[in-house]
Amino acid sequence: MAPSSNPPPTTGSSSKRCVPVCSGIVLSCLLAFTLQIFFFSPISPDLLLLPPASSASLIPTTSDIQSVTRLGEGILNGPEDVCVDRNGVLYTATRDGWIKRLHKNGTWENWKLIGGDTLLGITTTQENEIIVCDADKGLLKVTEEGVTVLASHVNGSRINLADDLIAATDGSIYFSVASTKFGLHNWGLDLLEAKPHGKLLKYDPSLNETSILLDSLFFANGVALSKDEDYLVVCETIKFRCLKYWLKGESKEQTEIFVENLPGGPDNIKLAPDGSFWIAILQLSSPGLEFVHTSKATKHLLAAFPKLIKLVAPLHKKAAVVNVAANGIVIRKFEDPNGKVMSFVTSALEFDDHLYLGSLNTNFIGKLPLKAT
Ligand SMILES: *[C@@H]1O[C@H](CO)[C@@H](O)[C@H](O)[C@H]1NC(C)=O
Ligand SMILES: *[C@@H]1O[C@H](CO)[C@@H](O)[C@H](O)[C@H]1NC(C)=O
Ligand SMILES: *[C@@H]1O[C@H](CO)[C@@H](O)[C@H](O)[C@H]1NC(C)=O
Repeated sequence: MAPSSNPPPTTGSSSKRCVPVCSGIVLSCLLAFTLQIFFFSPISPDLLLLPPASSASLIPTTSDIQSVTRLGEGILNGPEDVCVDRNGVLYTATRDGWIKRLHKNGTWENWKLIGGDTLLGITTTQENEIIVCDADKGLLKVTEEGVTVLASHVNGSRINLADDLIAATDGSIYFSVASTKFGLHNWGLDLLEAKPHGKLLKYDPSLNETSILLDSLFFANGVALSKDEDYLVVCETIKFRCLKYWLKGESKEQTEIFVENLPGGPDNIKLAPDGSFWIAILQLSSPGLEFVHTSKATKHLLAAFPKLIKLVAPLHKKAAVVNVAANGIVIRKFEDPNGKVMSFVTSALEFDDHLYLGSLNTNFIGKLPLKAT
């Protein structure tokens, strides 16, 4: 018993020496890791309070999006947004920097190459011109003759992450800047940071000037004009809500909530012919991982490994669009609940009794008949 209860003194003293050395190494590793994750973190996060179940959850959900007809399959790389001009020609901007269009005879045309992979919202004007948001360059006008930059700066700063736009009949173009801090390719950091870095801007073609209408928006995304053009609706993706900004009347220049507690993050919004709005809804939280949005430490950790953000925001696992009446009530909801046919649907345009669905995760535009549903 004696030898085992009294081990040789040398063994004891060497293991005693090892303790401070090993724990020193472990401590410095931990310190380096902590510094890397927290001190050098690209974000300074706030908590994101996910919305409670809203009236939208009572709307019957259909899997209609799974029955879309696929337009331009294989030739459209991530058609994020869709617009139709006054002659019924459909336009979209793709990840390979093209503006492509679908003629009424069913023929697709590679119309104009702008380049880059940052083209987002697209719209037509009263003069039947095409205007597109380039998250890199700003607001661009595209005509048969070529491409003109309408707005690249506002109040002395470069316009970063121009996202969506709408043209009024007076020629003004209203557009959103999603984030002044993060670029398109690391927009997930903006979601993690959950701070209001977005803006609503106005380009006035008569003055060739861009001004700021609203500042401090939470990832300003879709922009739409009401049927009478008396207010704008701008979506705040990471707040799961859209705001109403009055352009006319007693409340001119005032802001109120148009719709909140949406079943996900609102992306592009479009006016429907009946005066209601179609809003594409992004999947920004993952069942079981909701805590990430309320844990600053987890956010810092994720910001160091941005590839993991898609676990938290499984955009590619679902598609959803909601139809919101002019009074802010959700009236219809369409889904692809498991993203089998379409996921990451970013826009829904109603035209000729059909819904045209743009997406950042498909190589086609989905076309859905509305009369039958
Ligand atoms: C379809 O229409 C476009 C535009 O008018 C035209 O350029 C194209 O040749 C037409 N294609 C077919 C197959 O008719
Ligand atoms: C415009 O820029 C100036 C100087 O940077 C700043 O003080 C001001 O708040 C900005 N205005 C708006 C509306 O952002
Ligand atoms: C509009 O203003 C920009 C600078 O903000 C300028 O580069 C551009 O040439 C102007 N366009 C016209 C048509 O005057």
